[in-house]
Amino acid sequence: MAAAPDSKAKSPEELLCAAAESGNAEAVADLLSSGADPTHFDSSGMTPLMHAATGGHVAASRLLLDAGAPWNALSPSGLSAGDLTSDPATYDLLLDHALRSELILGTVARRQAPPTDSSDGVPAESYLDSRVSFSEDRVMDAESKAVMMEWERPLMEAHARAVCTGAGKVLNVGFGMGLVDEAIQSYEPEEHTIIEAHPEVYARMLKLGWGEKKNVKIVFGRWQDVIPQLGSYDGIFFDTYGEYYEDMREFHEHLPKLLKPGGVYSYFNGLCGDNAFFHAVYCQLVALELANLGYSTQFIPLPVKDCLSEKIWEGVKQKYWQLDTYYLPVCQEETESE
Ligand SMILES: C[S@@+](CC[C@H](N)C(=O)[O-])C[C@H]1O[C@@H](n2cnc3c(N)ncnc32)[C@H](O)[C@@H]1O
Repeated sequence: MAAAPDSKAKSPEELLCAAAESGNAEAVADLLSSGADPTHFDSSGMTPLMHAATGGHVAASRLLLDAGAPWNALSPSGLSAGDLTSDPATYDLLLDHALRSELILGTVARRQAPPTDSSDGVPAESYLDSRVSFSEDRVMDAESKAVMMEWERPLMEAHARAVCTGAGKVLNVGFGMGLVDEAIQSYEPEEHTIIEAHPEVYARMLKLGWGEKKNVKIVFGRWQDVIPQLGSYDGIFFDTYGEYYEDMREFHEHLPKLLKPGGVYSYFNGLCGDNAFFHAVYCQLVALELANLGYSTQFIPLPVKDCLSEKIWEGVKQKYWQLDTYYLPVCQEETESE
């Protein structure tokens, strides 16, 4: 009797996943050169690169990346290869590859970049034209996404501490709930300028008496439009909503004019706040781009796990922060001695 055809014969992609999982770099190389697809997802939703990274197989991971395996593919539980590895060499390889890819992407497809906040890419114009609602612990947009939340208060206090290094001039871009501005006021700066573009947030600022504070100057409008009216500052904080990474990059290009020599710049570091590896990539990317402008960035780790309970997110459409540590950026002009 003739043997039944082997219904269990493995596809080249299944073989590739198996070779990646066991760290057999030679087999990975052979399979790739004979046409196995490195972008394949197996029946458990894993790519060959995820298998190689999970096992900490750096040589197999490198071969897969060189063959076009996507570093940013996500498993069914929302993890990328970089999240899955516990091997430092594989992590560094993935981080380096991701940074290079994003730097290239940044020059060819800037609009693809992620939003800088919880807005999930709601274009700024439509956010600024729609209603917001205020309650004691949050400001919400018209789609039930959080513009700002009370749990961030300790972070905002830390940002204020970072940018209020003397009694000089401080600029804050984006009022939200005014948490950072309250904290900035406690340092009694000589001048405290606040830019706010949303008409309802602006109206609320006035209602709360921000327009009557002696050292406060409110500039109503989009920072993109009002920048020519500004001076230069000893401390600057940037935290807007509904904008893209590209907008933040554009703001950074104004720093050499806006920030006085010796001044401190900081921004809300919410990029990809729902995925640890993507967040690490974007921390490095911003630091690299600031370095190209002549600024060094230090990240101060702040534990936030205790600030966040499931209850906090009730009624919020999207949990924009899911990581245990917040990395507060402190940027200063690089000096020659550095
Ligand atoms: C996340 S909130 C800021 C929260 C603030 N850091 C705090 O401590 O409460 C973002 C604010 O930026 C404002 N905004 C959004 N786009 C803007 C733009 N292009 N220029 C100025 N403000 C903007 C929003 O209306 C919102 O009030």
